[in-house]
Amino acid sequence: MVAIFDVKKIMLTGFRPTGRLHLGHLHGNIKNMIKNQNDYDNFFFLVDWHALSTEYQNPKNIKTNLLDCVIDLISLGIDPELTHLYRQSDIPEIAELTLYLSVITPLSWLERCPTYKEQIREIKSKDLSTLGFFSYPVLMAADILIVNADIVPVGEDQLPHLEITREIARRFNFLYGNYFKEPAAMLSQATRVPGTDGRKMSKSYDNAIFLSDDFDSIKKKVRSMITDPKRIHLRDPGNPQVCNVFTFYKLYKDSGIEEIENRCKNGQVGCTACKDEIAGLIFDSLKDFQTKRKELENNIGYVYKILEKGKNEVREISKTTILDVRKKMGID
Ligand code: TRP
Ligand code: SF4
Repeated sequence: MVAIFDVKKIMLTGFRPTGRLHLGHLHGNIKNMIKNQNDYDNFFFLVDWHALSTEYQNPKNIKTNLLDCVIDLISLGIDPELTHLYRQSDIPEIAELTLYLSVITPLSWLERCPTYKEQIREIKSKDLSTLGFFSYPVLMAADILIVNADIVPVGEDQLPHLEITREIARRFNFLYGNYFKEPAAMLSQATRVPGTDGRKMSKSYDNAIFLSDDFDSIKKKVRSMITDPKRIHLRDPGNPQVCNVFTFYKLYKDSGIEEIENRCKNGQVGCTACKDEIAGLIFDSLKDFQTKRKELENNIGYVYKILEKGKNEVREISKTTILDVRKKMGID
């Protein structure tokens, strides 16, 4: 029997095209996205216009970074049959909707946005006093509302933006009649992955293990990690709870974690051996991914085809939204 009411909810995520992905990305949002692919109608897109709003002085890497990201995402298991995978700049309707939404967005909503205030204060290396950066949340609202998404998985840092999206949707509905859904945030239970220096793993901290790293680089990076500082000699008892390396064991070992803990506590293993072992486990977990990635690197035409498919699917929906919005606003 055909289930007529089995309409899947729309889940949408925008992703900054930061280049090759690292373990921090994997254990964050992406794993959840892949796991949920069958349960939703998924939209996953790379936000190159958002990247431009902060990188406009030096934009030359955006496109290569975007392609690297797409290759990583497909190799990880984002399935183009289940997920619309596309780039923001391929959907001109998003830009048009941004314009319609900006005319109804009060300046004060953007001025009081905490992420805006924080970034203007913290990021001194770039001139972010531009209209495009100021209206970043309006573009994000258009990303979401163009397909009338139900659910948006985000990290905590993005909650203020999602709140602005909801306010804009409400204001539009109030002014022109109900049309947009107010999208709900889905807070991801992302696992915090430390970088090689113990801070949050991030490309800009230069402490990341990339999914495409070979065994030698992974080994070198793990060897550079700080362990229990009190442990000097091989037979010294260690404290795994303060050791960065042990955090990775917790992520990568399904069972037998007590043994790893005890052999350290009892001084039965040297740190170098312990590190090389986890480097091996991390590398093994990436083998299938890396094989797939190499295939795609040699078949970039296929990657473009997937982006083209995503673009066509999403533009079709977006065109309908734009026609409706023009009608609602009285300019059709
Ligand atoms: N602002 C998000 C970030 O910096 C990226 C983003 C852009 C996004 N548009 C979106 C996320 C729409 C979710 C939905 O990470
Ligand atoms: Fe860390 Fe392993 Fe050394 Fe213990 S033996 S301190 S867990 S690297």
